[in-house]
Amino acid sequence: MPVPLFDTQRQIAPLRAEILARIEAVIQGSRFILGPEVEAFEREFAAYCGTEHAIGVANGTDAITIALRALRVKDGDEVIVPSFTFFASAEAIPPTGARPVFCDIDPETFCLTADTVKEVLTPRTKAVIAVHLFGNLAPVAEIEALGVPVLEDAAQATGSRCAHGRPGSLGRIATFSFFPSKNLGCFGDGGAVTTDDPQLAERVRMLRFHGSKDKVCHELIGCNSRLDEIQAAVLRVQLPHIDRWAEGRRAAAAHYQQAGLGDLVSLPRASAGCEPAWHLYVIKAERADAIAASLTAEGHGCRAYYRTPIHRQRAMAAYAPSRPLKGTEQAASRHLAIPMSPSLSAAQAREVTGAIGRALAAAPRAL
Ligand SMILES: Cc1ncc(COP(=O)(O)O)c(C=O)c1O
Repeated sequence: MPVPLFDTQRQIAPLRAEILARIEAVIQGSRFILGPEVEAFEREFAAYCGTEHAIGVANGTDAITIALRALRVKDGDEVIVPSFTFFASAEAIPPTGARPVFCDIDPETFCLTADTVKEVLTPRTKAVIAVHLFGNLAPVAEIEALGVPVLEDAAQATGSRCAHGRPGSLGRIATFSFFPSKNLGCFGDGGAVTTDDPQLAERVRMLRFHGSKDKVCHELIGCNSRLDEIQAAVLRVQLPHIDRWAEGRRAAAAHYQQAGLGDLVSLPRASAGCEPAWHLYVIKAERADAIAASLTAEGHGCRAYYRTPIHRQRAMAAYAPSRPLKGTEQAASRHLAIPMSPSLSAAQAREVTGAIGRALAAAPRAL
C-alpha cells in the first residue's frame, strides 16, 4: 500500500464533530476577529509552551517580521539565519530594513550551531533566527551565550521538547506557523509569537494591529496580521492532543530504525538532549533523487524540500555569503523527506524502507 508523505486526515478525523461544533459556535457568536477564541487560545498556547505570553498572528512569516520589529531590528542591522530552511525564515528579515546574514548548519541535525553563528557574528548582529528545522531543536542557550538575542523559528517544532523546556520558551522570542500540514495546523493560515517579556509582548500586540493598543491611537506603523476566531477555535480543539501526536511521530521514527533504514541511508540525528516531534523525517543519501524517483514510482510520498538553499535563490542575490556553506550544501543536495505522521505504523515504515532498499539495489553505485 502506498504511504503518503503526511496524513493529516487521520489525526483530524476523530475530532471532526468537535471542530464543527466549535466553528458553529463562532458563527453563532458573530465575533470573527480578536474575540474570545483567540484570547483563550493565546492563554492555552502560552501555558503549553511554558511562556508568559502568546500572541496570535496571521501566519508564521508575519510572526517572524513582527517579532524582529518587536526586538527593534531596523535599517543597517544584521540578522543571522540559516540558509537551509524554508524561504520565509530569511524572507521575513528585509521588511525590517535589516540584512539577512546566512550561516551554516550541522548537516547531521540540520540546525545551526553556536560555532556556525560565531563564524558570521559582527558588531552589527542584532538577532539570530534559530530555526528548529524538521522538529529538531537548535542549541538556543549556546547561541544566546554569545551575547545576542535568539528568535526561535519554531514553525516546524510544536510538540518537540528538551531539558530546558519546549520550543517557544527557549529564546527571547519565538514564532510559530499553523499552516495546515504543520504539527499543530489550522484550516487556513495562522501563526503565533511567544515570549516571557511583557514589553516585547505588548509591542507584538500593537504591531499586529496597526500599531495600536486601543484601535484609536496609533503609536507605531504596524500591520494587519491577526489569527482569526475560526482558526483559533480549530487550534483549541487540537492543542490537547499535540503531545500524543508528538509521541506518534517519535514512534514512527523508531519504526524506521527498527526496519533497518539506518543501514541503507543516513538518518536524521536528534540534537543533544532533544526529543523531536519530527515534523518531517528527512534522510540523507548521495543519490537522493534516484531514491525519490523509485519511491514515487511505487506510489509513496517523498519530497526534497530545500534542494536550492536560500542563499542561492535569485531573490537573495544581494545577500550572498562570502564563504561557502559546506554543511548547507551537503544537506541541500542529499536530503529527502520520507513519509512521517503520528499514525505511521511499523508495517508502513517497513514498506517504505523496503522501497528504498530496492531503489538502492537498482542503483548500486548510488552509495
Ligand atoms: C521553518 C519555517 N519558517 C517559517 C514558515 C512560514 O510560515 P507560514 O507559511 O505560516 O507563513 C514556515 C512555513 O512553512 C516554515 O517551515
